[in-house]
Amino acid sequence: MEALKRGLMLLLVFMVLQRGDGQLSENFYRSTCPNLEFIVRQQVFTKFSQTFVTIPATLRLFFHDCFVEGCDASVMISSPNGDAEKDAEDNLSLAGDGFDTVIKTKQAVEILCPGIVSCADILALAARDVVVLAGGPSWEVELGRRDGLRSQASRVAGNLPDPEFNLAQLNTIFARNNLTQFDMIALSGAHTVGFSHCNRFTNRIHSFSSSSPVDPALDPNYAQQLMQLCPRNVDPSIAINMDPETPRSFDNVYYQNLVSGKGLFTSDQVLFSDEASQPTVSDFARNTGNFNGAFITSMRKLGRVGVKTGNEGQIRIDCTRFNS
Ligand code: HEM
Ligand SMILES: *[C@@H]1O[C@H](CO)[C@@H](O)[C@H](O)[C@H]1NC(C)=O
Ligand SMILES: *[C@@H]1O[C@H](CO)[C@@H](O)[C@H](O)[C@H]1NC(C)=O
Repeated sequence: MEALKRGLMLLLVFMVLQRGDGQLSENFYRSTCPNLEFIVRQQVFTKFSQTFVTIPATLRLFFHDCFVEGCDASVMISSPNGDAEKDAEDNLSLAGDGFDTVIKTKQAVEILCPGIVSCADILALAARDVVVLAGGPSWEVELGRRDGLRSQASRVAGNLPDPEFNLAQLNTIFARNNLTQFDMIALSGAHTVGFSHCNRFTNRIHSFSSSSPVDPALDPNYAQQLMQLCPRNVDPSIAINMDPETPRSFDNVYYQNLVSGKGLFTSDQVLFSDEASQPTVSDFARNTGNFNGAFITSMRKLGRVGVKTGNEGQIRIDCTRFNS
């Protein structure tokens, strides 16, 4: 009898620890919304079958959400005054298809599990599902995030990395989010899919320095190609593939590109040109398994940044609005 009591006490302590504050868990909705992952996968697939942009747009949206106020779907909020996170200068390049994926998936989830699942968790699941759809690795997503109560354009500046950053600047901004240089290099592999507008790298091909208009770190043929795609005064809405070789597959070719001088942004190329990060890039370029493993670990870490749990925040009904 005593042994049984003690066993039950231990079990209780264990359960309390498991559900402790600040903790996410893989089976958070197991009893409250058992079909969640199936519904999300199905909705993400439907959106993907309408447009490929679903993949990069959703993946980048997750990153931007997590780096501003934490992974709390603050990026999803629409403000009538145009002063929410998504209205900040970096917005123009957040493709609408990422928002659309989360909004529609949430609507489908609300039918079966009303008021249960946060928009932040739906975005985290959708980010995993799009990587899988592009041929990348799969992983278990930790869940239990609550949706945030603040979304302000003024809080975006300084929290997102700039494509002209050097290694130290990249490391600093990732470290603020509890991510190491190794995580930063692995997560940059997301640039294996998706698009960039010409203005984000135009200085590298038209006005690099007084002695050379083209960044010497660029492979000359690639530089030529970029100049053709993005001539001076190009239409600002033009966007080009970030991975010129396999733009639609989630693979380690991004790192092979860096090795051969085909990193699109300064912040990409520097990962190979700086000797402090070069060994990791070379390893990921050679070994898909190492990249996939690191990407999974780092995406799970990214998903823990600044999360609200327990009674914090709320479970939004409409991802674009705070509950009234
Ligand atoms: C390391 C620092 C990073 C910098 C400086 C950076 C910068 C950028 C820039 C400038 C663009 C182009 C936006 C445009 O003109 O449309 C872009 C696109 C993208 N970024 Fe990053 N990024 C970084 C890290 C990440 C991370 C960690 C992820 C995700 C895990 C990510 C995912 C993406 C994706 C998927 C796109 C393509 C978006 C689309 O096609 O709609 N980036 N990034
Ligand atoms: C992006 O933000 C700028 C102001 O920074 C605003 O003028 C523009 O309309 C916004 N664009 C979108 C697509 O929301
Ligand atoms: C980083 O980790 C510490 C310790 O676990 C935690 O207190 C802090 O909130 C984390 N920071 C972010 C931005 O998630």
